Amino acid sequence: MTMDNAARIAKGDRIAAEAASRRTFAIISHPDAGKTTLTEKLLLFGGAIQLAGTVKARKASRHATSDWMEIEKQRGISVASSVMQFPYREHVINLLDTPGHQDFSEDTYRVLTAVDSALMVIDAAKGVEAQTIKLLDVCRLRDTPIITFINKLDREARDPMELLDEVESVLKIQCAPVTWPIGMGKRFRGVYHLLRDEILLFEAGRAERNQELELIRGLDSPRLDELFGDQAAELREEVELVRGASHGFELGAFLAGKQTPVFFGSAINNFGVREVLNALVDWAPGPQPRDATARLVNPAEEKFSGFVFKIQANMDPAHRDRIAFLRVCSGRFERGMRIRHLRLGRDIQVSNAITFMAQEREQVEEAYAGDIIGLHNHGNIQIGDSFSLGEELQFTGIPYFAPELFRRVRIRNPLKVKQLHKGLQQLAEEGATQVFKPLNGGDLVLGAVGVLQFEVAAHRLQTEYGVDAVFEPVNIYTARWISCADARMLADFEKKLADNLAYDGAGNLAYLASSRVNLDLTQERWPQVQFHATREHA
Ligand code: G4P
Repeated sequence: MTMDNAARIAKGDRIAAEAASRRTFAIISHPDAGKTTLTEKLLLFGGAIQLAGTVKARKASRHATSDWMEIEKQRGISVASSVMQFPYREHVINLLDTPGHQDFSEDTYRVLTAVDSALMVIDAAKGVEAQTIKLLDVCRLRDTPIITFINKLDREARDPMELLDEVESVLKIQCAPVTWPIGMGKRFRGVYHLLRDEILLFEAGRAERNQELELIRGLDSPRLDELFGDQAAELREEVELVRGASHGFELGAFLAGKQTPVFFGSAINNFGVREVLNALVDWAPGPQPRDATARLVNPAEEKFSGFVFKIQANMDPAHRDRIAFLRVCSGRFERGMRIRHLRLGRDIQVSNAITFMAQEREQVEEAYAGDIIGLHNHGNIQIGDSFSLGEELQFTGIPYFAPELFRRVRIRNPLKVKQLHKGLQQLAEEGATQVFKPLNGGDLVLGAVGVLQFEVAAHRLQTEYGVDAVFEPVNIYTARWISCADARMLADFEKKLADNLAYDGAGNLAYLASSRVNLDLTQERWPQVQFHATREHA
């Protein structure tokens, strides 16, 4: 059956409109800055949950134990909270979880390659912290636009101007304050909206109960003097200073990842959260075109395409059941559709994909660019795999990241070497850990970015592959993938530095440096050899 032109155009328009209404983002923060609390408030606004405390309770149950067995039982829960989709102001918001605390892993980084914008949460008393710096570096790989929320103004905090200076100097991103806090801690009265010339009054617990907040229009309003007394004049003066000393918001600079609009508030009091959500809808980009090896793929294209950025082993380890998280890049996905698995070169029919509406896992009926769908599989889908309809589109920009922690692997029973290799291979494909095989033989080395990854690997090797492995400390500081245009030089490099070289799970050459100094020196000595901190999926 051929579609007539009018119907084709209508379908094209629908796909373009659906894509444009998507906002796919993640929260980047250091543990305890308030990510969970903010997530919960965002879901409340989206009507995705009715009751405060739902997300919090889930986090508590995940953190009440450091026992991996228990954490494993929670795997189903973490699948459901990996992506949270909710409607807001005629848009569809996809919030992708960035696992923190003990769950911090390479997945946390990779999720950031699947979003179109990020929300950076900073604790107003602590300022810029270590994990935030790392996560922002990852965002920079794609110049992802960043919205900033400075949280916990209901407590004693640092001077707001000093906080902005710190963001600018440490994170190297220009700040454009959009709201400005009026006092802090016990004297926190609300925020002044610099663009709308409005004051949003703070009253602890009021917004939490979803009651309307009082809004004062205009900094000149006499109501301000009535309410604040002397603090009103102080505020007027401060606003004048801030306007003079800070950058005005520029949409273009924000979209280019060069400037971040900054909002102040208190997540726990639900204060300032709506402004952030509105900024996300009004300013953050919808799904962006994505690079594939052949060409750039536009979200409004009619034909479906997408890539896998995360694999989650499912509840029942006996069945090796996994869920692959696929980000839709173009077109429309429909249940029952046959899509092409590029790496395997064959079509698969997707009858039981899952979506992530609110908290429930539901059957996907349809999905558009920006949406995430979960594909059940038994190990035939890997991170970085591309799926499409008709045309061969291999997406790029889904990297592996240089591990920051390393362990040497020993097994107690040498007869289990084969199982060990098989198990590690599969864990590496899932992105659970990275495996390095030293050129000079010797024990395998595991790499990770979060400590718990090693515990998970040890536990899963035992339960799923019957391998009793011991992980020992090893003197490696970081890894860099190696490339060199000159084959002879590369051969020379391999010969001279064999003790520091290894192949990763996909057979790529990597340099394992014992220290920062060692890495710098080696780079200096071999200027024609390239050292990469990330590598693309094979
Ligand atoms: P995270 O996911 O980034 O790790 O942070 P989370 O939301 O769990 O918040 C960390 C702590 O900070 C929690 O306190 C939370 O209640 C508190 N918090 C979050 N937002 C605000 C805020 O706006 N103001 C104040 N004063 N506190 C805030 P906790 O004691 O660890 O947990 P709980 O006992 O409150 O649950």
